[in-house]
Formats: sequence, structure tokens, C-alpha cells
Amino acid sequence: MPRPSRLLLALAALCATTGLHAQTLHAPNLHAQTEPDPLAPTGRWSAYQGGHADLPPMGWSSWNAFFTELDEEKLLGSAQRIIDTGLAQKGYRYINIDDGWWLKRRTSDNRLLLRAEKFPSSRTGAGDASFRPLTDRLHAMGFKAGIYSDLGRNSCSQAYSTGDAQLPEGTVAEREVGLYGHIDQDIRLFFTDWGFDFIKVDGCGIRAFADGEERVTSGRYRALAPLIDQASVTRSDVPAVKQLFAQINQSLSRHNSDGDYLLSLCIWGSANVRAWGKDIGNISRTSDDITPDWSRMLTNYDSAVRRPLYAQPGAWNDPDMLFVGAGDFDAQHLTEARSHFALWAMLNAPLLIGADLRKTPQPLLDIFGNAGLIAVNQDAAGNQAVLAFDSDTLHILVKTLANGDKAVALFNRGVAPVDAVLTAAHLKMRDDRAIALTDLWTGAQSRFTKEQPFTIAPRQTLVFRARGDRLLADGLYLSEQPGSVNPAVDGVTHPEADPTIYRAIPAWRGSRGIGERPLYAGWGGAMADATPYNQPLAIAGHAYASGIGALANSRLEVRNHGFTRFTADVGVDDSARDGDHAARFIVYGDGRPLATIPALRRGEAARPIALDVRGVAILELVAQADGVAGEMLPISWGDAALRH
Ligand code: GLA
Repeated sequence: MPRPSRLLLALAALCATTGLHAQTLHAPNLHAQTEPDPLAPTGRWSAYQGGHADLPPMGWSSWNAFFTELDEEKLLGSAQRIIDTGLAQKGYRYINIDDGWWLKRRTSDNRLLLRAEKFPSSRTGAGDASFRPLTDRLHAMGFKAGIYSDLGRNSCSQAYSTGDAQLPEGTVAEREVGLYGHIDQDIRLFFTDWGFDFIKVDGCGIRAFADGEERVTSGRYRALAPLIDQASVTRSDVPAVKQLFAQINQSLSRHNSDGDYLLSLCIWGSANVRAWGKDIGNISRTSDDITPDWSRMLTNYDSAVRRPLYAQPGAWNDPDMLFVGAGDFDAQHLTEARSHFALWAMLNAPLLIGADLRKTPQPLLDIFGNAGLIAVNQDAAGNQAVLAFDSDTLHILVKTLANGDKAVALFNRGVAPVDAVLTAAHLKMRDDRAIALTDLWTGAQSRFTKEQPFTIAPRQTLVFRARGDRLLADGLYLSEQPGSVNPAVDGVTHPEADPTIYRAIPAWRGSRGIGERPLYAGWGGAMADATPYNQPLAIAGHAYASGIGALANSRLEVRNHGFTRFTADVGVDDSARDGDHAARFIVYGDGRPLATIPALRRGEAARPIALDVRGVAILELVAQADGVAGEMLPISWGDAALRH
């Protein structure tokens, strides 16, 4: 597919292998005496509650449409189209400036200067150019405004651009436009002076400017010892990266007295952010950059699809901005474009349009405007879809909505038609009662009992809203409410490559090099309705269609929305390689122990737990390996449910 050359620079973006600092992943009994025991109950919800992201953000971003060649006319043109086409009314609110806006950092006072010739409204007369008129205008139009920066001294376009379009100008020091060393000053400028409401913080500056890099040895940029190593899982300095984000958090709350900000983490799944991003930011990128290629969309989708437990109101998985409108997702490829949008909706991904809306044809605008899918994405319960059927060709995703309905997507990943059967069991609904389906593309209504066959065209995603009688009539399985479960500690001690992520040929490298080998991307983390290694849940030969799979030495926080009972069967999962070591289980309610199950080994029968949790706000489910530290021992909370 022909691409504009500027795409190359964009696509240079980064192989998101993971960096994982050995010291941060130790098992509890490796902790120094002075460190708090991560398995000790806290009685609180530890995922990020700052900022403003109860629902996944919706809006528009400049990057996929314009890369660095952004200007005010292009931005306002798309913003105006969002109003004129009715998309604003449907919830698209953020208008985000990505890379390419900055001119330089003035060295006398370290103030950032913007590229005024591209943003004419910024010339307010005397004094420095300011984004305030632009954000005022966007606010008056009913929008919120987003800005872009980097954790390091330099930005991603400075690292990877093949040309110099709208790159920062001036001396080496003047071109150091990133946050490093200037966090509070810059955040204050962005939010207090300029009035932005959203910031995306990229990470190329702490990754691509090592001493030996040509961009450094040539004298163009100053060296910064990388804190993220894309090639080695163990060579990222996780505490240092977290510390930078923590400083950004502090500045954001200091300079946003109304709390109306949104922090977007963009380190592509590296530095083990897959485990801690939800504790620090409102959205967190799970993969390298999306490109307008079907195969790349699969990679980005796969990087988020098995992570529903790591997304909650306030902190969402971000598989990157939408590329509907270009390449494999343009108006000649409506099947693909619809799939991309429907999947992002099901994943509770941010819905950030990346198209030049001034030129976007109506059929694509209709996709962005699909009210049924927007409602699925923006559903108040905040549950990311869970995989009900998994294969290389077909995925069936099910998302539990606030009113008890389910959204279900049947996604044909392949190139041949698929005959699929949707069952009541996929929906966790009774198979002896009728289930009503509403097709979210056509509006067509239908009913079925037990199972319903479909033929799914290549690359097509059928998506429905389903209503029926629930299998668990008096409550919700925890795996139906992943938005209320937070794996505060997930027990991963040894990063292992994830075999489930589609390995595309990257557009920016083609077949140069050795191809895309499996990467660590959180493999071993807690899973809904599967073990941490994507096996069926089973304890001593008893299979569980519902439940939470985690590793021992984990602590899961669970919000209780007014339920009175907690029930589960616990034990070491049959998939454990280790038959010698045992795990014990403790359930806490608001910090107090409610149940303790003594050590169980693989093959020992599950132990039932049934607890009165009336009035308990936060449950904590702890599984602790007995004996050997760092044991990666899969345990299961079979059928775990909150009930009335
Ligand atoms: C990185 C990010 C992209 C985009 C570019 C800008 O590649 O992952 O989303 O922001 O930088 O240079």
C-alpha cells in the first residue's frame, strides 16, 4: 500500500517490548524488612482515581491524520466537522494536539515556545505566543483540549523522523522540549496558562538517546541514559519511570484545582507498565503504534484483549488511536473499518478519531457515529469485554453492561468466511429461555434459544446487544465485572513472552531484521475465565467456566456494589507445573480477614468459600504461595461471584 513518506517517521514508533525491573517484581518474602508486604490488605482501591476518566475518553487526535504537520486550520476543521456531523453530541469531546506543535525551549527562562506560524490565534500581541485563544475557542465549541509531551528531553519525532517537518528548532538545548527537568514548569504552562485538559506523555526521550546513538554522537542531541530498554525485559528502570510519572501526577493535581485533567501514558507496554499503568494514569498504551494495516490492528487489539482485569473506571487500556479512514480501514474497506471500531468499543479503548474529518466520507462518519457501539464503549459499569471463545480465527467477546444486558462481538480475524455458533453459555445465560439480540450495525431484532448459527464474512465483526435470563440469577461472576476487579499485585515474577499476540510485519521495517518474535506483554497476569496462561480454569479435575485465574502471591481488589454474599471455589489450578508447593487463600473485607483457607496443592479438591459481605466496600482476594519465593503457581478463584 503506498504511503506518504511522513508516515515513515510516524511509524518509526517503537517496538514495545517490555522493560521489567527485576527489583520491582520480587515475591513478597523477598521484600526487604522495611517494605510493606504487598499482599497485606489495604482496605482500599489502589487503581488511579485522579483526573477525569470515569469512562474511556472520546475525541480526535492529530497524529494519524497529519503526523507532525499539524496546524490550527486542520485541527479546527476537524473539530468543526465533529460538531456539524453530530458526532460532538454523541460524545466526542477531546481535541488533541500530538507531536509537532513546539518550536523550542527558550533557554533564558526555560519556557516552551509554540510554533506560532502554524497556530495564528496564538499571536496575542505583545508577549509570548499562547495556546490560550485556541483552547478558549475549543472550550466555547464545547470541547476539551489535549496537548502532547515526552518524559525525556526530546520527543518521538526527534528520535524517529526521517525529515524535519515541524521538528523543534535551534541549539541542542533549545530543542530539548520534553518534560525532563521541567515537569512542574511545563505542566503549569499547559494546564494553568494555556488551559489544556488532557496530556499524552510519550517516552522516546527516555529510550532513544543513549550515548552511542547516531543522533547523539552526531551532536544533534544530548545523551540521556535510557530508562526503557525495548530489547531487554530486565533492563528497564521501572522505579525511575514510575517516579517521573508520579511527579507528573503531582504537578497535574497542583495545577488543576478542579481535577479536570486526563493523563495518557504512552510507553507502548514497555517498562512493565502493563502492571502499574492503571495505578498512575487514566489511559495506558498496551502496544507499539497502530498503522493503517489489518495485521497491525490485530497486533494492537491482541495487546489489550486479554487484559480486561487491568481496565477500570479511571484507568483504561489504550491499544492506540483509531485508524478508521486510512489504508485498510478507508471507505473502500468498510468491513475492516467497522471491525476496527467495534473492537475498540468492546475493549473500552479510548475512541480517538485519527482521520482528517474535513475529507472523511459519510459511510466512515456513520461508523464513528454508531450510537449503539458508543453506548457499549461508554457503558457506566466500565467492564472491558472478556473472551468467551478464543482461537486464531474467531474471537467471541462478551461485555457485561450496567443494566445486565451483554454486548457480544463475533470477530472473524481471517481471510475466509467462518461458520460460528453463538451459545447461551458464551453469554452466561440460560439455554432454556429465549435470548433477544439487537444487531448494532443494522438494528435488526432476533431471538434464539440455546444457540444461534452465523456466517461471518472475512474480517467481519458481528456485534449485538443481548438480553436473556442470566445463568447466575442472583448476582454477577467477578469475570462479568472486570471493571470492579483490580489486580493490585498479580504475582508475575518472571516475564515470559506472550504467544497470543499477532505478530505483524511492521510497516516501518518490513522484513529487515529477524521478524517479530514474541514479546513479554504481561503474560502470566490475572485473567477472566482463564488461567494466567490462557488455559481453562480447573481445580482437581473440576472445570470452571467462570472465575478468575491468577498466580499465587497475588492480591486482587474487588469493589462491592451492594452485594450481600461472596462465593468462590479456590485451589491451585490443574495447569500448575509445580505439584509440590502449596498456596493459601485469604479473603479480606475492608481490610479485615473474613476467611482463611489453609495451604492447598495441585490436585487437592477446591475449597468452597461463602461469605456474608453486607456493607463491605472493598474485598481483597489474596493467594499466597507457601515456601519458595517467586513461585509462578496458577491458582483459581473458580465461579467467584458477588450475589444478593
Ligand atoms: C510515538 C507515539 C505515537 C505518536 C508519536 C509522535 O510514536 O506512540 O502515538 O504520539 O510518538 O511522534
